[in-house]
Amino acid sequence: MAIVGPKSDLLDIENHLHGLVEPPLSFSLFDDELPDWRLQIIFAQQPAEQMGDLDIPDHLHVDIKPLPEKNWVIESLRYLTSQRAGRFFIHGSHEEASDQLKDVCICIPAGMAFGTGHHETTSGCLIELDKLLLAGVVPSRVLDLGTGAGILAIAVAMTLPADIIATDIDPEAIEVASSNVQINGVQDKIELLIADGVEHPALQVGGFDLVFANILAAPLIDMASGISSLLAPGGVLILAGLLETQAEAVTSAYTGFGLQLLRLQHRGEWAILTMRA
Ligand SMILES: C[S@@+](CC[C@H](N)C(=O)[O-])C[C@H]1O[C@@H](n2cnc3c(N)ncnc32)[C@H](O)[C@@H]1O
Repeated sequence: MAIVGPKSDLLDIENHLHGLVEPPLSFSLFDDELPDWRLQIIFAQQPAEQMGDLDIPDHLHVDIKPLPEKNWVIESLRYLTSQRAGRFFIHGSHEEASDQLKDVCICIPAGMAFGTGHHETTSGCLIELDKLLLAGVVPSRVLDLGTGAGILAIAVAMTLPADIIATDIDPEAIEVASSNVQINGVQDKIELLIADGVEHPALQVGGFDLVFANILAAPLIDMASGISSLLAPGGVLILAGLLETQAEAVTSAYTGFGLQLLRLQHRGEWAILTMRA
């Protein structure tokens, strides 16, 4: 579906999309109809049931069309180009790896799990990892909570001699991550687990020197106690999936459990927090 109107109205609707029970597969804002803007949203199901929740003001123009039968997630990812984030060069299976020795190349084929490196939250986490590496931080036990396609865990495996656990609530994501881990030859370094948040016996209190959690603001706040408790003293936590407007609330949820904010990175409308226990 496409919604056309003033940018401020569309940004309000975009904020609601994050909280829908069945969030869309994708959404993007375009400025190709200025002075109006266009918010294009792709739902897996008919969007009709979601319209009430979105609370679309009457003055906006709404156009709903079914998409032809195709796997649009894979289709759209197929045409993505390679991407750099710090020392990491992420490319699809249809592209060449970088020939520059300083680059760490990660191959992530188009797939159904989140995390091709193109989203600002993912590249923001990779940039934070790059900064930690530059600062000489050498964590030995790492957790990627909500691993999606496995990209953050793979990036750690390629740069650090660490034991890595990568979890996801979604079994399909773990299947995709497993395939990506093999493609990148790091299967011996990463243990993949299906887990909801911190609910798994392998996720022990004080068990990790570095934890990534790129999820969304609300679950990050809900899980602040559990996620904070996983960190060893001095351990580093990288949080993403929150909008800039949510950074303060997420930060204070974690400072409430004794963590200290080291860095706040802005990428587009997103914020990435690096914190220390
Ligand atoms: C935004 S994606 C991030 C993927 C990848 N880590 C990245 O940075 O590109 C969030 C992932 O977290 C997973 N997730 C959401 N809630 C979760 C929970 N409570 N426990 C574990 N994983 C969760 C989703 O299934 C999804 O794969």
